[in-house]
Amino acid sequence: MPKIVGKLPSESTMVVNSTLTQSNGEAASAEALIVVSSLKKGYQVGRQTVWALAGVDLSIEAGEFVAAMGPSGSGKSTLLYLLGGLDRSTAGSIRVAGFEIEQLDENALAEYRRQTIGFIFQSFNLIPSLTAEQNVAYPLRFAGVSRSQRTQRARELLGLVGLGDRMQHRPTELSGGQQQRVAIARALINKPRIILADEPTGNLDSHSGREILALLGELNQQGHTVLMVTHDLRGTKHASRTIHLLDGRVVADELPE
Ligand SMILES: Nc1ncnc2c1ncn2[C@@H]1O[C@H](COP(=O)(O)OP(=O)(O)OP(=O)(O)O)[C@@H](O)[C@H]1O
Ligand SMILES: [Mg+2]
Repeated sequence: MPKIVGKLPSESTMVVNSTLTQSNGEAASAEALIVVSSLKKGYQVGRQTVWALAGVDLSIEAGEFVAAMGPSGSGKSTLLYLLGGLDRSTAGSIRVAGFEIEQLDENALAEYRRQTIGFIFQSFNLIPSLTAEQNVAYPLRFAGVSRSQRTQRARELLGLVGLGDRMQHRPTELSGGQQQRVAIARALINKPRIILADEPTGNLDSHSGREILALLGELNQQGHTVLMVTHDLRGTKHASRTIHLLDGRVVADELPE
């Protein structure tokens, strides 16, 4: 299994962009890292509104590993997308480290995504024409980091996820589990505080799935806060908490037995 060798670089602190406004300076230090309040997301389909999220309340402390479960269509991906700043809500609020991300303009939201969030998808979403090393380094192209530094950091991270010997392989030359490890290395390249994973083991065989879950568990141990959508009960093993969604709401929130 891909043991993490060495230490992750220290976490970057939350970007304080000048356009950000701290919603409540007093409460910010005391409140959880992620605070979701009455969050709604509606889609207009013809004359009907489909409520993908119908009022979600959720707090996640820094350092938690939260597994999110629920039937298909219950709003899990929507919740992750909104938390990750990939989409906008219809109503409600999301505070991350005391900042209202709903109030960010497009540039500040892009900065938030880049600096604070590492996204891992079920289908890996790697760029087929790029090598593992280039895929991992890719997000740094927009961060004003020199090419040699980008490559160095990508290599470190690929080593970290156990792919030191596969850096020059393209996605089609890697197994599913290896591709997902490349995707995880890419998600870590900007040292995000928060990792959002949407069914990261959904396309993997059970052995690779276990490895990926263990890797996410280790990243959590190293200080990353993780929110992972999973259909797989094994996925909850590494989690410090499991939430259940149904019809766009959190209907259960439990600590492991
Ligand atoms: N672009 C869209 N337009 C209309 N409805 C949408 C859109 N995206 C999502 N929905 C609806 O919102 C609801 C929640 O979708 P979401 O993708 O968050 O579910 P999920 O819990 O991730 O499901 P799955 O386990 O199948 O991935 C679903 O009923 C879906 O049909
Ligand atoms: Mg989904």
